[in-house]
Amino acid sequence: MLPDMISSYISDHLDVFTGELAQILSIPSVSTLSEHAPDVLRAAQWVFDQLKKNGFNGRIYPTERHPIVLARSAEVSGAPVLLLYGHYDVQPPEPLDEWQTPPFAPDIRDGFIYARGASDDKGQFLTYIKAVEAVVGVSGKLPINLIVLAEGEEEIGSPNLEKFLIDHREELRADAVAISDSSKIGPDMPAITYALRGLSYLQVDISGPRFDLHSGVFGGIVYNPAQALVDILQKLKNPDGSIAIPGFYEDAVGLAQWEREEMAAVPIDIDALKNYVGVSELTGEPGYSVTERNTARPTLDINGLWGGFSGEGAKTIIPARAGAKVSMRLVANQVPQRIDQMVSRFITDLCPTGVHAEVRGLYHADPVLINRDTRAMVAAQRAIEAGFGKKPRFKREGGSIPVVNLIKKHLDQESILLLGWGNPDDGPHSPNERFSLDDFHRGIRTAAALFHEMAR
Ligand code: BES
Ligand code: MN
Ligand code: MN
Repeated sequence: MLPDMISSYISDHLDVFTGELAQILSIPSVSTLSEHAPDVLRAAQWVFDQLKKNGFNGRIYPTERHPIVLARSAEVSGAPVLLLYGHYDVQPPEPLDEWQTPPFAPDIRDGFIYARGASDDKGQFLTYIKAVEAVVGVSGKLPINLIVLAEGEEEIGSPNLEKFLIDHREELRADAVAISDSSKIGPDMPAITYALRGLSYLQVDISGPRFDLHSGVFGGIVYNPAQALVDILQKLKNPDGSIAIPGFYEDAVGLAQWEREEMAAVPIDIDALKNYVGVSELTGEPGYSVTERNTARPTLDINGLWGGFSGEGAKTIIPARAGAKVSMRLVANQVPQRIDQMVSRFITDLCPTGVHAEVRGLYHADPVLINRDTRAMVAAQRAIEAGFGKKPRFKREGGSIPVVNLIKKHLDQESILLLGWGNPDDGPHSPNERFSLDDFHRGIRTAAALFHEMAR
C-alpha cells in the first residue's frame, strides 16, 4: 500500500532526490585505500546529516578503520521496528580509462546515473532515506520505527561490524531487517533474495631464491617460484572444472528438487548474458544449470597473479617470488574458516621443496539461507507489488554481504529482507557502474510502501 499523496510527493521530488544521489556519488569513499579514509568519513557525515534532517537521532561511531552510522527515527510507540542496513563505501574505480565519464562525476545518460557506487550501494540505500523524507513530508511522521545502520567497510569484508553488533545488540533490536544491496532478475522482474554465497579470500605467496637470478646461469638447478605457483594453482581444480581440494564440497547443502524447478522456471537469456560479458561460451561445474552455477554452487577463482617480469620485451630471469589472490564463493553450510584451513593445508602440502609457500586469509563472509516464511516477507511482497507494479519472485544471489549472517548470529534475527533494486547489468565493481533512475524511483516507492505494510 502506498498512499496517493506520498506517491505524488515522490514523483514531484524526483529531480531533487536524483540531485542528492549525485552528491553522495561524488564522494570517492573507496574503503580499501587508506588515502580515501577522509572521503569515507565525509560519506558517513553526508548520510548522518540526511538522517538528522529527517528527525533521526544517533551518532557516527569511529572504529579502528572507517566509521559506522547508527541512528533512530523519532519514536512511534507501539509501532513495529525495522532495521535498515546499507553501505556507503565503494570499490576502487580502476581501470579509469574504461569509464566513459569519470567515476566520481555522476553523469545521467539514457535514464541511468553512471558513477562508482550508483547501484552498489549508495543508490539503493538512499531510496530508504528519500522514502522517509516523502512519508515524513506528507504525514509528519513514519508509521514505524526505523533504525538505520550504515557502514563504510562492506567492500573490505566488514572487519569492525561484528564487534559493533555485539556491543549495540539492544539498540539494534528490531522486528525485521531490510537490506537493498542486490539485484532484481531483470528490469521488470523484481525479486526477493533468499540466499547469498559466502566468501573466503586467500593470498598465496611463493618465495624461492634470495633475489631474481639469471635463468641461463641458474636455470635447471633452482626451483622457479612462478612455476611452483602455476603447478599449485593448476591442481586446485579438476579437468572438468570442479574443485579438487579434498573435503571442499563436504558441508555444502545441495539443492532440493523443488528449488531446482523454481530456479529453472525463471527465464534466462544465455545469449544476452554471453554478449554482456563478451565471451563465446559459458562454463562451469558439470550437472548444474547456469543459474545454479552462479548462485547456488561453490566456486574457486584466481583473482590475480604476479611474479617475475611482465614489462616490455624480455628479461631472462628466475623470479625470486610469485603470488596469487584466490577466492572461493561458498554456500550454506560451508564454514569459511574451515575452508581456509583446508585450502591452506592443500597448498602448503603441494608446495615443492626448494620454494616456500605462505597462505594468508584476507577476509571472510558466511553464506546465508533466509527463512522465506516470515510476516515481513509478506509485507515486502506487497510493498514490491505497490512500488514496481509486479509480484516479486524469489532468487539466490552469487555475491556476498558479510553483515547478513552477523545479524542472524548476533541479533538472533531470522526476519531479513534482501530487496535488490539493481539490475544484473548495473556493473557493480566494473567500469561504468550505473543505476537506473526508474529503479531509483520505484525503489523509493517500494521503501515507502514497506513502511506502511509493516505497520498494518
Ligand atoms: N552488494 C555486493 C554483493 C552483491 C553483489 C550481492 C551482487 C548480490 C548481487 C557487496 O557490496 C559486495 O560486493 N560484496 C563482496 C564481498 C565483500 C566481503 C567484499 C563480494 O560479493 O565480492
Ligand atoms: Mn554492496
Ligand atoms: Mn560491492
